[in-house]
Amino acid sequence: MATENIIDEKKQGQALVTDIKKDNTKKLFIESYGCQMNLNDSEIVAAILSDAGFNTTPHLEAADLVLVNTCSIREKAEQTVRKRLEKYNAVKKINPRMKVGVLGCMAERLKRQFLEEEKIVDLVVGPDAYRDLPNLIEEVEAGREAVNVILSKEETYADVSPVRLNSNGVSAFVSITRGCDNMCTFCVVPFTRGRERSRDPQSILKEIQELADKNFKEVTLLGQNVDSYLWYGGGLKKDFKKASDIAKATSVGFDNLLDLCAIQFPKIRFRFSTSNPQDMHTDVLHIMAKHDNICKYIHLPVQTGSTRMLGRMNRQHTREEYITLIDNIRKILPDCAISQDMIAGFCGETEEDHQETLSLMNYVKYDFGFMFAYSERPGTLAAKKMADDVPQEIKKRRLTEIIQLQQKHGLYRMEQFLGKTVEVLIEGTSKKSDLHWKGRNSQNAVVIFSKTGEEALGDFVQVKIETCTSATLIGEKIKK
Ligand code: SAH
Ligand code: F3S
Repeated sequence: MATENIIDEKKQGQALVTDIKKDNTKKLFIESYGCQMNLNDSEIVAAILSDAGFNTTPHLEAADLVLVNTCSIREKAEQTVRKRLEKYNAVKKINPRMKVGVLGCMAERLKRQFLEEEKIVDLVVGPDAYRDLPNLIEEVEAGREAVNVILSKEETYADVSPVRLNSNGVSAFVSITRGCDNMCTFCVVPFTRGRERSRDPQSILKEIQELADKNFKEVTLLGQNVDSYLWYGGGLKKDFKKASDIAKATSVGFDNLLDLCAIQFPKIRFRFSTSNPQDMHTDVLHIMAKHDNICKYIHLPVQTGSTRMLGRMNRQHTREEYITLIDNIRKILPDCAISQDMIAGFCGETEEDHQETLSLMNYVKYDFGFMFAYSERPGTLAAKKMADDVPQEIKKRRLTEIIQLQQKHGLYRMEQFLGKTVEVLIEGTSKKSDLHWKGRNSQNAVVIFSKTGEEALGDFVQVKIETCTSATLIGEKIKK
């Protein structure tokens, strides 16, 4: 879930036609910054507000209510949102009745302070308070302040059927856990998204059934730490010890959940994100090996290759333990792609630590990577206890070295597909050419190939790979 994918502005707030309610009269413009979880949360918000009379609109200018789902992960992510608020301000001058709300991690982090800092903002709502939105909107309309940033130990929105926004009708996200208990010292997420909770597996299967009924072909199971999924009747994971023997005996872990999904929906292919090295066990790898419809791709953030830095980051594993996990993946799933998140220049990082990151990368040769310079976040343990002491230009240089090495490895991985035939799920027309389709193979590599007129969006097709770049495979469809 590492991508800071900023969604195409023109496509914001567009729901599948099947999700539009005829009798709804008010218009909601909603956009998301940050991770896939935010995108999925916006779909949950659209569903809650659909029951309160709002249909989504792709046009900012036409909106009665504008909601922005925000990201706090790095300072830059917050700056991007502040810029966006300026744009809303300009639109509000033309349409003064328009209300503006801030959702997500920045709302949780800044709370009431947001109303003072950004005069344009009418309501501030944290990630666990979306059910309260209809009430809060009424408060705003009555001229009162509307802030709800209460974090929950139970909320999973299990019963809410998300309105699929900007959807290609082929692939969708389904949340399985919320929050994170890991407390990595650099990370703001445990503060903005609260304690880790798992969602009832029956509600997960029900949501996937709804997607299958609408002809969706790919589901990505989402959580900050999916491998830590544990259902024993609800509540925090730490309370599992106190649960009844029956609850423990019937509990469902992530491997069980994946197995259930893959068996119940043989026509859907499954992905999941994100895996935390300390919580990923070989059980999950064996379930992945057992099912063709579980994609052979693991996003396995490591942040640094130095055990010393892993300790400072409060990651619960060493470099050697991570390498053992990688070796197990290669053994059990020889064709599995692996991707990383890396942070360059965390507090106290020496040149030696940095070299260990590069050498770990050389060992794993990741297929993809999401790489960032360390950005101090207020309230985290690192901000409180550690000096952000790596000078900006050194952070930048180390980051560049990491990115360049990743490009080399990405190309190496893509080249392994040359001459091979891969199965691709068609996800849309190529951005660069109307004559080409784009899709992804099991390993999550983007594949581009010519349209033949015989295949359609949502089809699984066989493509023979002819050329590649460091991030894309290019080929031709093979007749079955
Ligand atoms: N477990 C989560 C991690 C969310 S944060 C998940 O689902 O992916 C995504 C990535 O952002 C992290 O893996 C880390 O590489 C990066 N990140 C988090 N906090 C950061 C910070 N303070 N500075 C720079 N990068 C950060
Ligand atoms: Fe953040 Fe670490 Fe959780 S990176 S989301 S605290 S696993």
